[in-house]
Amino acid sequence: KEDKQTPILAILEEVAEWYSLQLKEHLQRDKAISYLRKRGLTGQTAKAFGIGFAPPGWDNVLSRFGTTAARRQALIDAGLLIDKPEEGRCYDRFRDRIMFPIRNSKGKIIGFGGRVLTNEKPKYLNSPETPVFHKNQELYGLYEARKYCKRLERFVIVEGYMDVVMLGQHGLHEAVATLGTATSDTHLRTLFRRVEEIVFCFDGDEAGRKAAERALMTVLPLMEDGRQARFLFLPDGEDPDSLIQQEGLEAFQRRLNRAQSFSDFLFDHLQGGEVPDTAEAKAMLSKRALPLIAQIKEGILKQLLMDNLAHLTGMDSQRLQQWLEHDQPAPI
Ligand code: UTP
Ligand code: MN
Ligand code: MN
Ligand code: MN
Ligand code: MN
Repeated sequence: KEDKQTPILAILEEVAEWYSLQLKEHLQRDKAISYLRKRGLTGQTAKAFGIGFAPPGWDNVLSRFGTTAARRQALIDAGLLIDKPEEGRCYDRFRDRIMFPIRNSKGKIIGFGGRVLTNEKPKYLNSPETPVFHKNQELYGLYEARKYCKRLERFVIVEGYMDVVMLGQHGLHEAVATLGTATSDTHLRTLFRRVEEIVFCFDGDEAGRKAAERALMTVLPLMEDGRQARFLFLPDGEDPDSLIQQEGLEAFQRRLNRAQSFSDFLFDHLQGGEVPDTAEAKAMLSKRALPLIAQIKEGILKQLLMDNLAHLTGMDSQRLQQWLEHDQPAPI
């Protein structure tokens, strides 16, 4: 396994270095640089994140780096080439894109995200799953966060590469992004090993709100006394990148510090914004809430959520507790 990974990691490193060199030296570098400028990115930030440019063309990487059969195989295994032997084709995966190297927590490059400079689709192309790159485990920006942040007290989970990079440029180094996938249990465990607080900060759109509800369900079984999860909902049409450029670090920090708590968001979600005022509504709320609260580790937080449910339904805390332990209704 080790032997399979070594050549892949080595070639990813070589190619990443070449991509960042292209941003300085390629004949078409101007369009890449002016794109980054237009987005507000400084050269210093580009350097800090190792951002590069994959120039146009089908065989830049193939011809420069695929000089032996073994190296060519490493490029394929690394996800840098798309190999279609049945069609007799093998070509560069990333063409004419801004390249964001993705590092593992040790700082080794394990894959890339590549953004088009225009409105073409797909907007972002990510490395495929490879022996060194597992999307449901890795977080973009985690290595950089630990490198640039003196004392990490919380992580902010955002959706995109540009969000992490632009927050970093403004001095907020605690942001990490999932790689075009939902936040997984593994992602959250990785972060909770290092800090006690996670703030979810997805885009201010329908997809972002859906992602927050999914994250709520994923973080639920990991909640325990001493841990905090909070949810920051951004104004419509904004994402962390656009918002911090608009209002600056301090305003953004204030939003983070005021983000909705796990318990408030949980009950908002369960109640659908309504106070249950009939026996039926109270029964419905209990039926929804109990199987979720049951997933939380024993402790004060769990007890307080039960107390809150008791308060909302007018039930006795003890009787609710019995439901939790014995007659737990099936999740709906
Ligand atoms: P967004 O569509 O919110 O993009 O996707 P963004 O990060 O704000 O991009 P900019 O600001 O236009 O550059 C959020 C994340 O979803 C993944 C990427 O990881 C992206 O950063 N994504 C999005 C893809 O993997 N593929 C896509 O085509 C689009
Ligand atoms: Mn593996
Ligand atoms: Mn979005
Ligand atoms: Mn976005
Ligand atoms: Mn964006």
